[in-house]
Order: sequence, then structure tokens, then C-alpha cells
Amino acid sequence: MKIAVYPGSFDPVTNGHLDIIERGAQLFDKLVVAVAKNPGKEPLFTLEERILMLEKSLSHLSNVEVSYFRGLLVDFARAEQASVILRGLRAMSDFEYEFQMASVNRKIGDIETVFMMTANEYAYLSSSAVKEVASLGGCVKGFVPRHVLEMLIKKYKR
Ligand code: PNS
Repeated sequence: MKIAVYPGSFDPVTNGHLDIIERGAQLFDKLVVAVAKNPGKEPLFTLEERILMLEKSLSHLSNVEVSYFRGLLVDFARAEQASVILRGLRAMSDFEYEFQMASVNRKIGDIETVFMMTANEYAYLSSSAVKEVASLGGCVKGFVPRHVLEMLIKKYKR
């Protein structure tokens, strides 16, 4: 059984993440979406909120599970018996960071990272951009699922 882990902050999940998950789920027997508990930055959404938004978005995919981890990703992957880390790649600007992470994870955890190119329509999309637009009162329809949009409106309601 080929198991992959798709890790991230998911603060919040975007349509770009969901595109990678839907396509990734077709490549592996099981895909574990892993929300990082301590991503090093102060998240807008709590861990519970980020997990809930993912679960709501992914209930139609039977081989996808949502979980969370703290500490090293490679330790989580080992505990899940995953042999692959899945990451999405947008532009060249992602490359350096991703290259470093994949190299470190291979060195310390002996695990491969597989990259999928983000769909063209989401190449510009990031959780940070979504938060910035939403915080300034802009419309993020089309960037995130409807229920995430509602959560963003609630968070930024003044
Ligand atoms: O969505 P993000 O913020 O790009 O995800 C980054 C994440 C959470 C995947 C990365 O920061 C991570 O794996 N953190 C766990 C700590 C770890 O294992 N670090 C070693 C790799 S450099």
C-alpha cells in the first residue's frame, strides 16, 4: 500500500491545495493531509479550525485522511507508514525552499518528496494572499471553498 503525506499550514486551505489533494489522491492508495501544529508562524486559524475546514472540503475523497503533527514531519510520516511526502509547486520562487526541505527530509528521514505542479489557474494563489485580501475587505470567492470564505469573513469582522 502506497501512502503519502501532504503537509502544510493550511491557514486556511485554498482551492490550490484542494487541487493538489484531489490529483494526489489518484496517485496513492492513501493520502494523509497533515496540518502542522507549530509552523513557526502565528496562524490566523486554530489547529481545530484548520482541520475542520479541510475535513469539510475533502469528505468526498474516500482515501484521504486529515490529521495533524507537531515536531518533525519525517517522524510523522514514519508513524503513518508513508513513503512519500507530497508537495505542490507553483512558481520558481517556491523552488529554493522546497528543494531545501526535500533535501533535509531525505537526509534525516530517508523519505522521497514528490512534487506536483499546481494547476495554472492557481499558480498565483497562496494562503497569505487570501488572508491579505480578505483582511482588507476584498473578495476571495474562487480562491477558497464557500465555507472557508465564511470563516474568513467571520474572523475579519470588525
Ligand atoms: O504550508 P507550509 O507553511 O509551506 O508548510 C511547511 C511545513 C509545515 C510542511 C514545514 O514547515 C514542515 O515540515 N515543518 C515541520 C518541521 C520539520 O520537519 N522541519 C524539517 C524540514 S526543513
